[in-house]
Amino acid sequence: MRYQPRPGAALDDIDTPALLLDLDAFEHNLRYMATFFADKPTSLRPHAKTHKCPEIARRQLQAGAIGITCAKLGEAEVMAEAGVQDLLIANEVVGPIKVHRLASLAERANMMVAVDNPANVAALSEACQAKQATLRVLVEVDVGMGRCGIQRSEDALHLAQQVIDAPALVFQGLMGYEGHLVMRPDAEERSSGVRQAMIPLLEAAELLDKHGIATEIVSGGGTGTYDMTGTSAPMTEIQAGSYILMDTTYLRIRPEFHPALSLLTAVVSRPLPERIVTDAGMKVITKEFGWPEPIEPEGLVLQGLSEEHGKLLAQRPDQVDLSIGDRVRMIPSHCCTTMNLHDRLYVTRAGKLVDIWSIAARGRAQ
Ligand SMILES: Cc1ncc(COP(=O)(O)O)c(C=O)c1O
Repeated sequence: MRYQPRPGAALDDIDTPALLLDLDAFEHNLRYMATFFADKPTSLRPHAKTHKCPEIARRQLQAGAIGITCAKLGEAEVMAEAGVQDLLIANEVVGPIKVHRLASLAERANMMVAVDNPANVAALSEACQAKQATLRVLVEVDVGMGRCGIQRSEDALHLAQQVIDAPALVFQGLMGYEGHLVMRPDAEERSSGVRQAMIPLLEAAELLDKHGIATEIVSGGGTGTYDMTGTSAPMTEIQAGSYILMDTTYLRIRPEFHPALSLLTAVVSRPLPERIVTDAGMKVITKEFGWPEPIEPEGLVLQGLSEEHGKLLAQRPDQVDLSIGDRVRMIPSHCCTTMNLHDRLYVTRAGKLVDIWSIAARGRAQ
């Protein structure tokens, strides 16, 4: 049977590699964002692609979020199963297999999805009508990221009209995600980029209005732009995700949030005084935004990751007291993809385990 530490266990009693959640930092991030949105005209619909953890979604809703955003249908199925009712899949869901799954999910939960294609709208409508399910729809507008989304306001109008005419679909508004801006280091540049990014959304909303179509929801925004997009017309809801866990990349531009996520690893070898090798490689921590940052003990620099090993350099070997079996803690450079590699989140406060939460939607990429 798999070893599981009990609440009250010390960090040394948690087997490695293990993802740790610092509950104090998590609660700070939760409260900070909830307080920010409490007096704004926009609301928070946190993105669960970051944590993939129903318990975190439940706490975000309890703190005032109006619903949860998902990237994938599989994530939304897990969240609905856990009792989350108001879900946006901020993505196009295409192909007969997924369209039918989404229609089934819409029978059980209050679902909303993004569209940017008339054939997809027709398929969603047919599948939902067959099940007598209702599906809410946002037309996605490309606001400069160059990913999905319609390119001209006229296309938004045509799609909106098609959705309105479809018996099983309900047109709710627009979605525009400014992903090309969220990590720009310079806040002024980010902010002026957001003003630009709002233009296609404003234009589309204006054109819809001229044709008597109300845009009730405009959804977008991320951790890097929540206070910019979140205070801009025509946004009504913000999809920030990473703020709740944080990583070294976002900590550089968003110091108001605290690092809640870290990876606990163990030293498996110290073949030279300066070389420390851990049990945490690319299969437990990601590196697309740069190397993870060792934070405990001090004086270590990550030099490389292979599949199952992390190679660390002790800058002053005589001052780093680490033997095999000892623990090293590091902060990921990208929380979302690192969470996706783990089944469990070890929740700690003041160095003691308080709970273990299931990362139930991890790997649900379909
Ligand atoms: C559609 C969408 N919305 C929002 C986000 C914001 O996420 P974060 O707060 O992690 O930047 C993302 C990030 O990938 C996204 O793809």
